[in-house]
Amino acid sequence: MTQPDANQAPVTTEELPSVESTVPAPQADLSAPVEATATAPEEGAARMSASSMLSTAAPAAAPVAPPALVPAQAPLGDMRVYVLANQKGGVAKTTTTLNLAVAFAEAGHRVLCIDLDPQANLTVSQGIEDDLPESMYNVLLGQIPIKQIIQKCEIDVAVSSIDVAGAELALSSTIGRERALQRALIPVKDDYDFVFIDTPPSLGLLTINAFTAAHRVIVPVQCEYLSMRGLLQLENTLEMVRENLNPNVQIQGIVPTMVDTRTLHAQEAIELLEENFQGRVFRSRINRTVRFAEAPVQGMSIMKYEPKGAAAKCYRDLAQEVMADVQ
Ligand SMILES: Nc1ncnc2c1ncn2[C@@H]1O[C@H](COP(=O)(O)OP(=O)(O)OP(=O)(O)O)[C@@H](O)[C@H]1O
Ligand SMILES: [Mg+2]
Repeated sequence: MTQPDANQAPVTTEELPSVESTVPAPQADLSAPVEATATAPEEGAARMSASSMLSTAAPAAAPVAPPALVPAQAPLGDMRVYVLANQKGGVAKTTTTLNLAVAFAEAGHRVLCIDLDPQANLTVSQGIEDDLPESMYNVLLGQIPIKQIIQKCEIDVAVSSIDVAGAELALSSTIGRERALQRALIPVKDDYDFVFIDTPPSLGLLTINAFTAAHRVIVPVQCEYLSMRGLLQLENTLEMVRENLNPNVQIQGIVPTMVDTRTLHAQEAIELLEENFQGRVFRSRINRTVRFAEAPVQGMSIMKYEPKGAAAKCYRDLAQEVMADVQ
């Protein structure tokens, strides 16, 4: 699954060319938010086939001519950036970001979590108030360095607040708007080994910023048929990012979440995923348990809330699998 990594050549912030100045305008507007998919199944479809399930998500993206000059990957040194993304809401993006990050930290790595979701669920999950005067909003707009809003909790968290909802609009008219996060990360590139970014349930400019800064994307998918719709749309967006902004970003894997091992439905949903995304579904499964809802109430990861429990083991296993892919 691992691809060769071109994140080597050092480039200064000033050298990062603006997207507008170097790349032909993409034929689709990457900053236009794509709403969470919640389309109902076609009338009369008793059980959807794999192809019908995945083909209704979005029309294929219009072909985009290769750009004359693709900017190099951000100068992030050896720091590796993972994005947890799925435009569908409530599929365990935040839960997976936090617990995977803590599992990496347990293994001795220096880890930063970035909360890029205006809902600020990751921030709150670490017991931090979400009515902060400064947040990723100010960082994305270049007003303050990211270090200024990193809070040391169980893990380091670059915090979000409801203000982040305004970042897409505020950035939309700026040059290099898709690279705001990438630029913000450069000053901490020697401070962390891994960065995990939690994204909102949309494919808008915030998520595009995360894809532009990322090495790999991890896609949590709730194990129900309807949750799988929209993966094609995510892939199309990622393809546009590869063509225009970050040629190296890849989906590292799909994580089946909230798996109810007692139901045939969950097993069928996993089979459907494996059928359609061969070789890209992680072997680790995140089982459904109320522990995942209880831990954030205490401001803890599942690793701290119930360190020896089965739920914590799910994320430790996933972390091992993700780490195995790091050269
Ligand atoms: N494995 C699990 N078993 C049971 N509940 C879970 C599991 N994982 C997550 N949850 C719960 O499901 C809810 C949604 O999870 P989470 O907030 O991580 O999803 P999300 O994809 O980040 O949502 P959003 O799109 O709104 O940001 C939360 O209440 C969380 O505690
Ligand atoms: Mg979330």
